[in-house]
Parts: sequence; C-alpha cells; structure tokens
Amino acid sequence: MSAELLEIARAIAIQAGELAARRRAEGVSVAATKSSSVDIVTEADRETENLIRSLIAEARPDDGFLGEEGGGEGGGSGLTWVVDPIDGTVNFLYGIPHYGISIAVVEGDPDPLTWRALAGCVVNPAAGETFTAAAGAGARLNGRQIRVNDAVSLSQALVATGFSYTAERRVEQATAVTNLIGRVRDVRRMGTASLDLCFVGCGRLDAYFERNLNPWDHAAGALVAAEAGAFVGGWNGSPAGREFILAGHPELIRELEPALVESGA
Ligand code: IPD
Ligand code: CA
Ligand code: CA
Repeated sequence: MSAELLEIARAIAIQAGELAARRRAEGVSVAATKSSSVDIVTEADRETENLIRSLIAEARPDDGFLGEEGGGEGGGSGLTWVVDPIDGTVNFLYGIPHYGISIAVVEGDPDPLTWRALAGCVVNPAAGETFTAAAGAGARLNGRQIRVNDAVSLSQALVATGFSYTAERRVEQATAVTNLIGRVRDVRRMGTASLDLCFVGCGRLDAYFERNLNPWDHAAGALVAAEAGAFVGGWNGSPAGREFILAGHPELIRELEPALVESGA
C-alpha cells in the first residue's frame, strides 16, 4: 500500500518539479504576500499546487488534501495528501537552485502530532534530486538507499535551521543560533525545510531544528529522515509539529537537545 502511494507521490512530484523549473526559467515575480512582507507567493506556487491537486484527485479521488496555497479538503478514505508545491519559495524567487516540491500522504487527521506518515517525496528539480521514503521501507535518493551520518559529538556537528517570516520571531531564533554556534562545527540556513530534513537523511547535515513550521514543510522530509535512521521529533520525545522539529542521529540528539534548550531555541 505504502509502496503504491509512494509511486504516485514520486510521479506527481517529478511532473510538478518540471513545471516549477519551466516557470523558473521563464522568470518569476511575486504575486502576493502572506504573513509578512517577506512571506511571498508566486504564480508558480499556485499553478504547481493546482497541478498536484488535480493529479492526486485523479489518482486517489477518495483521499483528502492539505496544500499550502489552497488549503484543506476532506476525503472519505482516512488518508490525506500534505503538499508544499514549492518549499524554499524565496530561493525559487531569487534563482537559487535549492527548492523542493514536497508531497506526503498521511493516515489519520492531517495533524503532525497524531498522523502516521505513509509515504513522502521531495524533488529538487534544479539539482535533479528525488528523495523518497515509505513507512518501514527505508529512504532513497534517486533510487539509492540513504542513511544518516554516524553519531558525532556536538562540537563536530553540522547543524541546519530556519527562520520564521515574522521579524520578531526571527530575532529570537537568531539569538538562539548565536548561543549555539560556538558549540557546534557550524550552522547552515539553506532556506528549504523539506530539503534540510532530506539532507539529514543522506548525511549532508548532522542535524536540523526549527520552530513554527507548517505541516506541509516537514511532512515528506521528516519521513525521509526517519526512514534513513534519524530521530525526528519535538521537545522531549513529543511528535514534531509547529512547536518544534528536531532531526539527527539519536545519539547526537541526546547532546543537541539540551544545548538547544540552553540556547533558548
Ligand atoms: C519555508 C522554508 C524555510 C523555512 C520556513 C518555511 P516556504 O517554506 O521551508 O526553509 O525556514 O519556515 O516557511 O515559505 O518557502 O514554502
Ligand atoms: Ca514551505
Ligand atoms: Ca511553499
């Protein structure tokens, strides 16, 4: 079942990635702003989500849908597709080749605190990379199995994070990073939460944390990281959600989590 769902997610994410890359090549501009003047949406975000929504409705008419741009729609099957049509929209706008089409399918209410992710796919069309995972079946990058890095000590860890679109929150988040940066190898802010999680899964990062993510930012990437052997959760072993998400080798997380608390993350 998860394998079939993953194949649907993969095929649709690749097609959506081709559309986004085409729109990027043609030139992109801001269509509207959302939570703040720097929280933007482009026509390509909307068009890509509409394509994904219609392809999923065709393949899985009884499933629900939750998308960043168009919102939610219930279904009768108990499954919901959780979609960020372009994650890393600011990278997309600026032509930075690091953005993702993120598609996951979850069982239960479309709430990260209670759902069970069944399959997820994150495509970065600009890099030609497709990350996939199905529950209990491992994670892959372009078809090859991936694993998290072996545990390293905190001082050797390359750690990524992200910042919210609200100025006040960003300042708090940056303060926490200031407190942490002297205790780790280095910090990355690459601008695409779904790919940060996939990068933990394939060993390009040792760990990742962020506050205030929306369900579509992490639904697929969290499954990729977890299936690659990472701990993925919130504070104190609670499920990942808006409050907090933390991912990395379980042994590193035992050192990183208290350091994040001390840093005020
Ligand atoms: C954002 C990116 C970013 C993260 C933000 C997200 P968007 O998503 O994933 O890395 O730090 O919290 O909102 O707006 O580009 O889809
Ligand atoms: Ca996003
Ligand atoms: Ca987005």
